[in-house]
Amino acid sequence: MYKGKHFTAIVLAAGKGSRMNSDIPKQYMKLNGKEVIYYSLKAFQDSPVDNIVLVAGKQDIDFCREEIVEKYGFDKTKDIVEGGSERYWSVRNGLTVSKGTDYVLIHDSARPCINDKIILSLMDEVIISGACTVGVSAKDTIKVVDENNYGIKTPDRNTLWQVQTPQGFSYNELLMAYSEMEKNNAGNITDDTMIVERYLGKKSKLILGDYRNIKITTPEDILIAEIFLENL
Ligand code: CTP
Ligand code: MG
Repeated sequence: MYKGKHFTAIVLAAGKGSRMNSDIPKQYMKLNGKEVIYYSLKAFQDSPVDNIVLVAGKQDIDFCREEIVEKYGFDKTKDIVEGGSERYWSVRNGLTVSKGTDYVLIHDSARPCINDKIILSLMDEVIISGACTVGVSAKDTIKVVDENNYGIKTPDRNTLWQVQTPQGFSYNELLMAYSEMEKNNAGNITDDTMIVERYLGKKSKLILGDYRNIKITTPEDILIAEIFLENL
């Protein structure tokens, strides 16, 4: 319990990592000798969250239990559940086993450079706003392009943030948003702030994460993450 509330971290690891082009899914590749997923589970294990739900591909559930959770002693990870074909179906499966919690923190295992400060500031914020995410203010100018890659709009950079995870929600509200999403047709949803925005009309609060909290997506990210992990 943190501030009298029950917190569940849902750690997502059911993706295929197609942009990484590697033999093994990116969440199981090694960074400085430990699996990518190790770092996120370790961060939540050492945080005040009460329990962790790990969402993995069906074929990887035994591996996760034996070679990650048991091996490293991540005893807050009580449930390892099967993911779905899209990120949001993986989240939904994690939510299903999280009944009774007050707040959920949803995190991509592909972001190993998460730290305790990020987790704590999100836990404080979700108690206030009920829907929030960490992110960073955009450093680059961002263009909206047409179908031929001509820039057609340049939104004011001061209004643009890059959204990261973890993202925090009141459990009941997120569940409600998901049940609306399931009734309507889902599509093009890349995170959970979009789901509460679209299906509950609720705004999420953005708080400052860390520029080092990158998502491992393509091969060069591995090199950068290894350096960041040595200097967190
Ligand atoms: N994820 C998941 N279930 C899915 C898709 C994604 O649990 N059906 C997880 C991934 O494991 C990852 C996070 O969501 O930790 C963010 O997704 P992304 O970076 O897009 O990972 P992948 O979908 O695995 O990669 P790609 O899009 O390149 O295939
Ligand atoms: Mg993906």
